[in-house]
Amino acid sequence: MNDPKDPLLLDHEADGIRELDNNLPTWWVWLFYMTIIFAGIYLGYYHVLKAGDLQDAAFQKEWQVGEALKSAALQKFEGQLGSLAPSQDKAVLAQGQKTFTTLCSPCHRADGGGLVGPNLCDDYWIHGSNYADNVKTILNGVPEKGMITWKSILKPNEIQAVASYIYTLRGTHPVNPKPPENQVQPTKPSIFE
Ligand code: HEC
Repeated sequence: MNDPKDPLLLDHEADGIRELDNNLPTWWVWLFYMTIIFAGIYLGYYHVLKAGDLQDAAFQKEWQVGEALKSAALQKFEGQLGSLAPSQDKAVLAQGQKTFTTLCSPCHRADGGGLVGPNLCDDYWIHGSNYADNVKTILNGVPEKGMITWKSILKPNEIQAVASYIYTLRGTHPVNPKPPENQVQPTKPSIFE
C-alpha cells in the first residue's frame, strides 16, 4: 500500500527507512536495452557466424606476429655480429674494464685468469674464440654452467665494451691461470688488425 500523501513512498519500512517506488531513469533503461542488443550482435558475430577471432585465436595471431618480428631482429643481429669488431677506443675499453672488474671478475678473476669461469686469456675456448663468439656468449650466457645471461642486465653497448676489453686480455698469460678447457682455438685476427 502506498502512502496517500506521496504515492511513490511504499509502506515497506526498515529501521525508519522507507522505500521509494519511482521509475528508473530513461537513459538507464536504454543503456540496459543497448547491452541486450550488443550481446545479441556479439553472440551472432562471434559464436553463430564465427566471423571474428575469439580471444585465444586473436592472441595466437598477435603472438605469431611478435615472434616473427623477434626472430627477424635476432637473425639480423646475429648476421651483423660476424662483421663486428672489438672496439679500440680507450673510453670504451675503460668502461669495459670497469664492468669486467665489478661483474665478471668474481668468476673470471680480475686478470681474466679464471676461477669458476674459464681463463679468458689463453687460446682455449669453449664457445668460440672470436669477438663475435664472445659477444654471443656474454649476451646469452651459459645458464646451465653458471654463466649468467647478461642481455637482461647489460645494454648491448656495455656488452660490446666488456667483450672488447676481454679481447685485450688475449695472450696476457696471468700467473696461476685456470687450466685450459676444451680445444685450442686461436682467435682469428679482428678486421682491425
Ligand atoms: C657466476 C659466475 C660468472 C660470472 C659472474 C661471469 N661468468 Fe663468464 N663464464 C662462467 C662460466 C662457468 C663459464 C663457462 C661456461 C661453460 O662451461 O660452458 C663462462 C664463460 C664465459 C665466456 C666464454 C669462455 C669460453 O671459453 O668460450 C666468456 C667470454 C665469458 N664467460 C665472459 C664473461 C663476462 C664478460 C662476464 C661479465 C659481464 C662474465 N663472463 C661473468 C661464469 C661466470
